[in-house]
Amino acid sequence: MANFYLSLFLFFALFLGHGVVELQASHHVYRNLQTSQSTSPNQPYRTGYHFQPPKNWINDPNGVMIYKGIYHLFYQYNPKGAVWGNIVWAHSTSKDLINWIPHDPAIYPSQQSDINGCWSGSATILPGEKPAIFYTGIDPHNRQVQNLAVPKNLSDPYLREWVKSPKNPLMAPDAMNQINTSSFRDPTTAWLGPDKRWRVIIGSKINRKGLAILYRSKDFVHWIKAKHPLHSVKGTGMWECPDFFPVSTYGLNGLDTSDMGPNTKHVLKVSLDDTKHEYYTVGTYSTAKDRYVPDEGSVESDSGLRFDYGKYYASKTFFDGAKNRRVLWGWVNESSSVNDDVKKGWAGIQAIPRKLWLDKSGKHLVQWPVVEIEKLRVNQVQVPSKLLKGGSVIEVTGVTAAQVSSCLYASKLVMNKRRHIWVFAKYQ
Ligand SMILES: *[C@@H]1O[C@H](CO)[C@@H](O)[C@H](O)[C@H]1NC(C)=O
Ligand SMILES: *[C@@H]1O[C@H](CO)[C@@H](O)[C@H](O)[C@H]1NC(C)=O
Ligand SMILES: *[C@@H]1O[C@H](CO)[C@@H](O)[C@H](O)[C@H]1NC(C)=O
Repeated sequence: MANFYLSLFLFFALFLGHGVVELQASHHVYRNLQTSQSTSPNQPYRTGYHFQPPKNWINDPNGVMIYKGIYHLFYQYNPKGAVWGNIVWAHSTSKDLINWIPHDPAIYPSQQSDINGCWSGSATILPGEKPAIFYTGIDPHNRQVQNLAVPKNLSDPYLREWVKSPKNPLMAPDAMNQINTSSFRDPTTAWLGPDKRWRVIIGSKINRKGLAILYRSKDFVHWIKAKHPLHSVKGTGMWECPDFFPVSTYGLNGLDTSDMGPNTKHVLKVSLDDTKHEYYTVGTYSTAKDRYVPDEGSVESDSGLRFDYGKYYASKTFFDGAKNRRVLWGWVNESSSVNDDVKKGWAGIQAIPRKLWLDKSGKHLVQWPVVEIEKLRVNQVQVPSKLLKGGSVIEVTGVTAAQVSSCLYASKLVMNKRRHIWVFAKYQ
């Protein structure tokens, strides 16, 4: 064992000097670690409730959708190691958002327009229940461009094979359009305006100004950049993984992304590359001007409203028409060191999907884990009623702490002054 660690140390000493070759989209490229497959059998940190593949690196959730009653989760994945690199769109499907079937990667480098990488993107369900995926490809000149892929066989509910448009890339930076070739990525789900034109936004920046670049199309194939972005904010740096969707001003139901009805507000979320925090605002989308205006008082920076104040990034929602809800996915970077990631053989999980809706105040969103998560509850343990006072300790026996989730149902709870309730479970 000691020898193993010594050689690992030497190995790291070597690669830290020479192996980290460049910075791409804020991920280090650890060239020497792209073959490591060492998955430790001792896995105390693997999750029981969250989505994660058996091994290797994962990051952003991509192209989340429901099709013919089946949920699809694609995600950024390195088939060759526990560090970022060789990114493909891995693919899993589920009937309940909890139990997942893995499929072969759906999108991987195969065209000029994505030969150096298949990065994040989103799904749109076109009329006639036809899914389409937009994703960012890295072309031979390392430019970031936007590509389209559609299912090969619409009768296959698992949508296992995807065909890329021969017209790719459909959106690319050129000498005319002033788009930064290395800051142009993460297309959103598209929406249809009242003028029957599709719209999509792509994250970008000009100097330190974050941008949601807007494109429009009549046929989903030919896209024209609008003169102005949907929205922009000075001083925020690169906007990654924008998400733009309508919310109902009453009730908990979600809305289809193209829904512009009278009782709707809009939400714009961006992931800040500089700080690795996300923020969102609630506001108004003017279809006439094709601009988004956040409500007065909105904080448009790193200190704005977040979905999650822990490690949570590159989030993305979709409209689940089967249950009339909007569902949020997000990547959790468990922030262990590269050294530890290689040792454990994996890195990153997807947070439990959450239902999302607008609070009655209209000022912020409310979220709750999808109801299906309750399926994972087994062996309920009940503790007899007891008046809790500050400093009270209740021992809950009969559960193992490694996967315990606690739920307090009580008619009378006396919280301590700081309004904290602690539940201790004995580790067995
Ligand atoms: C399309 O998918 C359906 C359902 O899985 C299958 O029965 C059919 O053979 C597939 N068609 C082709 C051309 O692969
Ligand atoms: C374009 O993006 C790259 C990568 O983030 C950055 O180094 C460069 O400064 C950007 N150029 C402008 C004009 O924003
Ligand atoms: C992931 O965690 C690592 C280690 O803490 C950190 O350097 C990196 O910025 C994190 N990335 C995100 C997107 O949170």
